Amino acid sequence: MNRQWIYARRPEGAVTTDIFELQLTDLPQPAPGEALVRVKIISVDPANRAWMQGRTYRPQLQPGEVMGGFGLGEVIASNTPQLRPGDLVDGDFGWRDYLTVRPDQVTKRDPRHAPEHLVGVLGITGLTAYFGLFDVGRPVAGETVMVSAAAGAVGSVAGQLARIAGCRVIGVTGGQAKCDWITGTLGFDAALDYKAGDLKAALKEICPEGVDVYFDNTGGAPLDAALARMNVGGRIACCGNVSQYDRGGATGGPPGVPGLLVTKRIRMEGFIVTDHFARRHQAERALAGWLRDGRLKAPMDIVEGFERVPQALVDLLHGRNRGKMMIRIA
Ligand SMILES: NC(=O)c1ccc[n+]([C@@H]2O[C@H](COP(=O)([O-])OP(=O)(O)OC[C@H]3O[C@@H](n4cnc5c(N)ncnc54)[C@H](OP(=O)(O)O)[C@@H]3O)[C@@H](O)[C@H]2O)c1
Repeated sequence: MNRQWIYARRPEGAVTTDIFELQLTDLPQPAPGEALVRVKIISVDPANRAWMQGRTYRPQLQPGEVMGGFGLGEVIASNTPQLRPGDLVDGDFGWRDYLTVRPDQVTKRDPRHAPEHLVGVLGITGLTAYFGLFDVGRPVAGETVMVSAAAGAVGSVAGQLARIAGCRVIGVTGGQAKCDWITGTLGFDAALDYKAGDLKAALKEICPEGVDVYFDNTGGAPLDAALARMNVGGRIACCGNVSQYDRGGATGGPPGVPGLLVTKRIRMEGFIVTDHFARRHQAERALAGWLRDGRLKAPMDIVEGFERVPQALVDLLHGRNRGKMMIRIA
């Protein structure tokens, strides 16, 4: 049998597990030109929630569909010479055990790496941090880099990469325990708890020399605080807007835009990781090298069991993860 989670109802406000329904179906059969994939790991991403709000870089999720989600799987039967049984592949597989795919819907992955790394630090997570920081943020050694959702998947890697680039790194995250973790374990120079009160004042105190690059995973209060501290010529890499996802729709932007952008000549640029995939292998090689030589840690929050995927998404959106959250199902 094939288990799949159906996105059954639009959430009213924050996501709850009861908007998903578990469905059992027969095993799908690959048509000519297709392969059968067994999903091994499901990636849990804030984007899963954003896809419910409206069109993003993919169509809006519609009630009744299999819940969308990236994953890593193994080809177990194939009717195409481009995919062979045993191949490891990733793609937007949805929350299910099995699916059929065409070769153009998947990317083949290198089985010499740990599957969890292929989903995390050597997958979308690490590549987003890499391209967002180096291509969009363009830090220079000695500059100050600020990262929000700094204890999460992308943020934890982006902050470490900025350290590798010779920058001073300030992480913003929720709660003292996560602040202690990113400084004590991941090597951030300083951390701020955005839930603790006046973030703008705290940032000013910790960062009197200003911020040169802000890697924005959240929008909301951290963006507001960063804008006030950006140096002339600063760069803001707009990676995501997680403070605005778990609700009906995004609210108004922070005050000061575009005024602050103009007076401080700030470049604020959004990006989608796939825009940079022409250089994916170069980035993967660099990330794997830093991982090997110990300069980069790959924190992961691994949950076991297909039945726990909906709760994992709720937990992620409430900040109960450290590092890359994923579900091992096979
Ligand atoms: N542009 C791209 O191509 C691309 C690709 C992948 C991901 N992204 C984006 O990158 C961002 C991070 O994704 P991720 O996969 O690494 O997730 P993540 O950071 O591991 O998990 C989300 C984190 O967001 C924080 N958060 C939740 N509500 C918040 C709020 N109201 N204000 C501030 N922080 C809040 C929580 O940490 P705290 O405990 O610190 O609150 C939570 O752990 C997301 O915005 C995502 O959409 C973009």
